[in-house]
Amino acid sequence: MSVKNKLENLKRGAPLVLPSLLLCDFGNLEKEVRQLEAAGFSGLHLDVMDGVFVPNMTYGMPIVKGLRGLTDLPLDVHLMIANPGQYIQSFVDAGSDLISIHAESVDDPIPVLKQIRDAGCGVGIAINPDTPVEKIADCLPLCDLAVIMSVQAGFGGQKFDPGSLDKLRLARELGGPDLMLEIDGGVNVDTIGQCVAAGAELLVAGSAIFRQPDYGVAMENLLAQVNCTN
Ligand code: DX5
Ligand code: ZN
Repeated sequence: MSVKNKLENLKRGAPLVLPSLLLCDFGNLEKEVRQLEAAGFSGLHLDVMDGVFVPNMTYGMPIVKGLRGLTDLPLDVHLMIANPGQYIQSFVDAGSDLISIHAESVDDPIPVLKQIRDAGCGVGIAINPDTPVEKIADCLPLCDLAVIMSVQAGFGGQKFDPGSLDKLRLARELGGPDLMLEIDGGVNVDTIGQCVAAGAELLVAGSAIFRQPDYGVAMENLLAQVNCTN
């Protein structure tokens, strides 16, 4: 399936919960992916960290490539790395369907966003809680996705920042109806309803999924909060 079709499916299927592969069992990746597929998730959120842009390290292209070989689900790659422009082609070659870079990781995001687009991959821009949406206003026309961080990039299991709700609303106003909005960090049964009400379409969840025994039940519990508040 083409990247374009995968993005259209995500947009059409929204609101969707995407599991963040940070707190999963990396010692049993194939088993984890099969459980996530069986649970009905429509995509995987891959948290790439380099220990430079964020004070944590996770994984890079080899794991993305390994996941590409395991599943056809869209791979939503969240680059929390310095100098992302240096690695775009490698992450595209590894099988990314969507690549989001942090506005804070480059002087000017636009050339890197164009590089992602030219490589035939979905284009995303992410901003940390302290970065105003206005800072990425001129990036949004180039993007398929805006990632509003509701925690400081770098770790799972942090507390949701309610300030991200107004940022979602402003991102919709500035980005228009076709832009996909993703919220990332601290999404759980207590926060997901507000996120969707504020316009979030892709809801990234780490602890709310991987700290539960049954991933399908975890997703159902999350989406049940959406339906009852919408
Ligand atoms: C943080 C990552 C998030 C995080 C989500 O830097 O981008 O995807 O892992 O984990 P929870 O849902 O536990 O906040
Ligand atoms: Zn993330």
